[in-house]
Amino acid sequence: MTIKTLDDLLAQGVSGRGVLVRSDLNVPLDDGGAITDPGRISASVPTLRALVDAGAKVVVTAHLGRPKGGPDPKLSLAPVAAALGEQLGQHVQLAGDVVGSDALARAEGLTDGDVLLLENIRFDPRETSKDDAERLALAKQLVELVGDDGAFVSDGFGVVHRKQVSVYDVATLLPSYAGTLVNDEVKVLERLTHSTERPYAVVLGGSKVSDKLGVIEKLATKADSIVIGGGMCFTFLAAQGLSVGTSLLETEMIDTCRRLLDTYADVLRLPRDIVVAEKFAADSPPEVVACDEIPEGKMGLDIGPGSVERFTKLLANAQTIFWNGPMGVFEFPAFAAGTKGVAEAIAAATAKGAFSVVGGGDSAAAVRALGLPEDGFSHISTGGGASLEYLEGKSLPGLEVLDR
Ligand code: 3PG
Repeated sequence: MTIKTLDDLLAQGVSGRGVLVRSDLNVPLDDGGAITDPGRISASVPTLRALVDAGAKVVVTAHLGRPKGGPDPKLSLAPVAAALGEQLGQHVQLAGDVVGSDALARAEGLTDGDVLLLENIRFDPRETSKDDAERLALAKQLVELVGDDGAFVSDGFGVVHRKQVSVYDVATLLPSYAGTLVNDEVKVLERLTHSTERPYAVVLGGSKVSDKLGVIEKLATKADSIVIGGGMCFTFLAAQGLSVGTSLLETEMIDTCRRLLDTYADVLRLPRDIVVAEKFAADSPPEVVACDEIPEGKMGLDIGPGSVERFTKLLANAQTIFWNGPMGVFEFPAFAAGTKGVAEAIAAATAKGAFSVVGGGDSAAAVRALGLPEDGFSHISTGGGASLEYLEGKSLPGLEVLDR
């Protein structure tokens, strides 16, 4: 891939020029609307800072959550604008709309080094439309905000797998560059794909097994082991004929999991014990049971200590590790030990020289929430779905469009 980068744009000089930046500022919020993990905001700062320092008029576009076809005050980027302003050390204006009169007036009023954040781009349903003409119309309105000599910087790594206006279509209209974050993330994934030192261990968790089957299929022939935990492990346990009580289960995926277990028996590693509880609640009393003894009315909320020990031994020898998805409900302290144990094992392997990549929103948030040092890992990616699709070998529209 030959993609122009932010450095190429800066080399041309951007002082006084309008630059549209797509960042991924999709941060988790608590019930009161407060940001619980600002990781993606911090990761977006270097590109924005470089443009501000170079005197660009910066217009940032980003999404928050998945609004249903129109504005939703709960998904306003207001708290994000405030947090971004704090991190950048300068005021970040928030437009009251996406490409409406307020956005236009504010964009026109920008002076060199100013930053304007547009309201949640997904408040405009054309952003995610499947209709090319609808998407193009919104793209043209975004381009208007930065003017004829404007440029586009794609820095939202977490969305490069989406063929959406602010990721894909605008890049067909403006001179386009990969921001620092996208550039760094792609380099790491290229290393993971092309110069993988063995043993290569992949650790997969999270709730949805259906999201991970593609990557399992792809990596099963490349990795020496694929460790499976989190909510997704119960569909695999069910595929082995075990009863999983009231644990998460994707029944329609059982056959595929069975086939994967049959084909890659020497690669796939399942937990041996599970922490179960009666309810999905922080105060539901935890109990450790063997995988083949999950009681009927109980649900698995974490992998057990025996599994952590087994996975820790396996990870200790790895030279390359990719981890995506928590091992349990780490947000509840009683069910966090599995995720913490595996994360510590990955950090220990990293300290001995392994190359480790933590892929994605939830696992990255887990590292921070559990108080693990971020520099204990070689790279913490901001993109869960995007890094999985990259490793699956899928074409990512937001990267393809930059390769021109
Ligand atoms: C993410 O949270 O993985 C990215 O921000 C992409 O969000 P999306 O899955 O709603 O497109």
